[in-house]
Amino acid sequence: MPFIKKLPVLFFFALYGFRATAQLFMTHVNGRNTISLNGKWNVIIDPYDIGSGNWQAYYKDRKAKDNRDFVEYSFDDGPALNVPGDFNSQMPELHYYESSVWYKKTFRYTKSTKRLFIYFGAVNYKAEVYVNHIKVGTHEGGFTPFQFELTNYVKDGENSVIVKTNNARIKNGIPGLGFDWFNYGGITRDVALIETPAVFIEDYLVQLKKNNPKLISGYIQLNGKNAVQKITLQIPELKINKQLTTNNEGLVQFDLTANPIRWSPENPKTYEVKIRSETDTITETIGFRNIQVKGTEILLNGKPVFLKGVNIHEEIPQRKSRAYSEADALELLNWAKELGCNFVRLAHYPHNEYTIKMAEKMGIMVWEEIPVYQGIDFADTAIQAKMHRMVQEMIERDKNRCNVIIWSMANETSPTRERNEALTDLIKKARLLDSTRLITLATNNLSYHGDSVHIKDSICALLDVMAVNEYLGWYVKWPKAPGAVTWTSDFNKPLIMSEFGGEALYGNDAARKDSANTWSEDYQAQIFKDQFKMLKNIPFLRGTCPWILVDFQSPTRNQPKYQNGWNRKGLLSDRGDKKKAWYIVHAFYTGL
Ligand code: GCU
Repeated sequence: MPFIKKLPVLFFFALYGFRATAQLFMTHVNGRNTISLNGKWNVIIDPYDIGSGNWQAYYKDRKAKDNRDFVEYSFDDGPALNVPGDFNSQMPELHYYESSVWYKKTFRYTKSTKRLFIYFGAVNYKAEVYVNHIKVGTHEGGFTPFQFELTNYVKDGENSVIVKTNNARIKNGIPGLGFDWFNYGGITRDVALIETPAVFIEDYLVQLKKNNPKLISGYIQLNGKNAVQKITLQIPELKINKQLTTNNEGLVQFDLTANPIRWSPENPKTYEVKIRSETDTITETIGFRNIQVKGTEILLNGKPVFLKGVNIHEEIPQRKSRAYSEADALELLNWAKELGCNFVRLAHYPHNEYTIKMAEKMGIMVWEEIPVYQGIDFADTAIQAKMHRMVQEMIERDKNRCNVIIWSMANETSPTRERNEALTDLIKKARLLDSTRLITLATNNLSYHGDSVHIKDSICALLDVMAVNEYLGWYVKWPKAPGAVTWTSDFNKPLIMSEFGGEALYGNDAARKDSANTWSEDYQAQIFKDQFKMLKNIPFLRGTCPWILVDFQSPTRNQPKYQNGWNRKGLLSDRGDKKKAWYIVHAFYTGL
């Protein structure tokens, strides 16, 4: 790729991810030398958020120095919570809690020439991390990983990590104040220490070039001083054993001609990729595929594909808590597989890494998105910066997951000038970070003219794929017989119907089958029958994602008889029972 080699390094970073920020992007953490900090952490519940003040600075973890000394807090004698796991589901009094919970864990360590980092899979929503009572970093955003270097803060013997988490919804947050899912807070995903050599392999990209089935392209980024090192990149099954040398920023880019069996739902083929520097080695299984758009077709490995999808929230309904483990990923993805899916929309935020990696193994394509959801103040530059960082954190984490085919920038945002400008910038950023995957956003900006629905959201001009959320038969009355409803758009692009459906309480076959407000299974099933009559007539439709796989908790759903704190649009009940509508969708997918 001679052209790229001449690029000034900074612009090259712009192509593959900004290194200018001090933020770390340690990819494939599970492939590193980690010490898990999962397990019981002592906590202090701090509803009035007083723990950050001078009077009672919880991060100092002070002990009473004599019998006149009042220290009105203590981790050591307090309750303990499991990490990973939202705190809401662990104590009854924390069910609707939206404020600060402080966590403490101690660990023993012996210093060496190695460097030490701490990794969080996610903390919702804000995190402040203290090691031995010194702040080592903060993070905002509930669904992407972050790491801080501890090398200069850790000591021989016992060390303490104290994390202030706060899940209060904030106006300039992402998401903002209002959203239709449960606001689970705390250390919701894995925590681990990571030991590395002085110069280590921080990050790498190894994927097929967008339009080339025989060119594996990417980069390797070392972290540390004197990072000019010889690198060996091996993909044994493809007989690749490439010698490379990093520049003085520790970076090397590469192109490898190869002839991989390309990953697909039918054959989710992956390869062992081993990257060895002079001081570090990392191994990961990586798949290779091409994803493109041609006119109104979506092409997977050059062939048109129809995305038989379903929406999934990151929640295990039986446990009423956030999903966070490999077993949780299996439960949700097996349900999707059983429905006949080859695709999942992971709503409305990046899910945990186990889910993405498990989907890759199972041959399930993935749509990932950041929680730019409905009421966002796009004119606020702080919010714009947060959007950009979140998109970068999402893409940096999963850029080597070939089953991720779509990055989505937003969900149901109003088409104001500020929104169009902010999302135009965000789409540009996403394309700079990843030139291979399809970019979309879910819009509900539609106009209904008699029996025709028109997609008119101007932002679609910048997207690879249009995505529409519509609730004909539920929130919106059918304009005419469903089979007679036609769809048109201003854009010659593929369409994914990214949300459609309605609610039903499992087992509720209320007498009034013709009315929506009895939450009957028959009514919900009828919605899907009608929807598929309409959907099969849309000539540029290339994917469908019913909302939603399984009932999910939402404090906005308070019809006491039927909802009782649950959004009942699941095809499955909160116990995993198949509603009548499940069979309609299953028949549509297996009949395709
Ligand atoms: C919206 C939104 C979902 C919400 C759903 C509903 O389209 O994207 O997050 O849960 O509709 O109303 O149930």
